[in-house]
Amino acid sequence: MQDDVSKVIISETAIRDRVAALADELARRYADTSDGIILVTILAGSVIFLADLIRRLPMKMRIGLITVTSYPGATTRSHGAILASASLPDLRGRDVLIIDDILDSGGTLRLVQDQVRRAEPRRVTTAVLLRKKANAPANLPVDFVGFDIEGEFVVGYGLDYNGLYRNLPYIGVLKPDLYEAES
Ligand code: HPA
Ligand code: MG
Repeated sequence: MQDDVSKVIISETAIRDRVAALADELARRYADTSDGIILVTILAGSVIFLADLIRRLPMKMRIGLITVTSYPGATTRSHGAILASASLPDLRGRDVLIIDDILDSGGTLRLVQDQVRRAEPRRVTTAVLLRKKANAPANLPVDFVGFDIEGEFVVGYGLDYNGLYRNLPYIGVLKPDLYEAES
């Protein structure tokens, strides 16, 4: 599997340091919460980010899960975000933090932000590990960003291509011949 990667963009240690810094920022932001926050996590790409992040958070928290498909099968292009399933605690009046692996075309986050807002939480903020700044729509606000990256399709640390490579401990790019040609 490691042989399929042509370039490591963000190393394991760089991710660890940045996730720790993000957790510190979140701890400060939510220092005043008494009833805790709800982390709405977008599956499956965000599971590793979530697991590493929450073990560094000092406040009370609950987890909600939401599954969105937008890159089905062997593709590096969004085919439109579809809400596949949701398992969420009651969000009404609560402090909600949406967690996603990557802000790319923005379709997934827009769908999830709309869905969460419909449940009438007190406050909604969003944290993403990665942001492709050139692609991300200007009118889609995210409050916390781990890394800004270029437009290349990346895998690892939760992110997949065709369901694979989520378990790589770093963020990298695959060898070009592994991406199937798309018309
Ligand atoms: N890699 C993996 N999944 C993605 C990406 C990416 O670059 N962009 C949107 N979903
Ligand atoms: Mg994916």
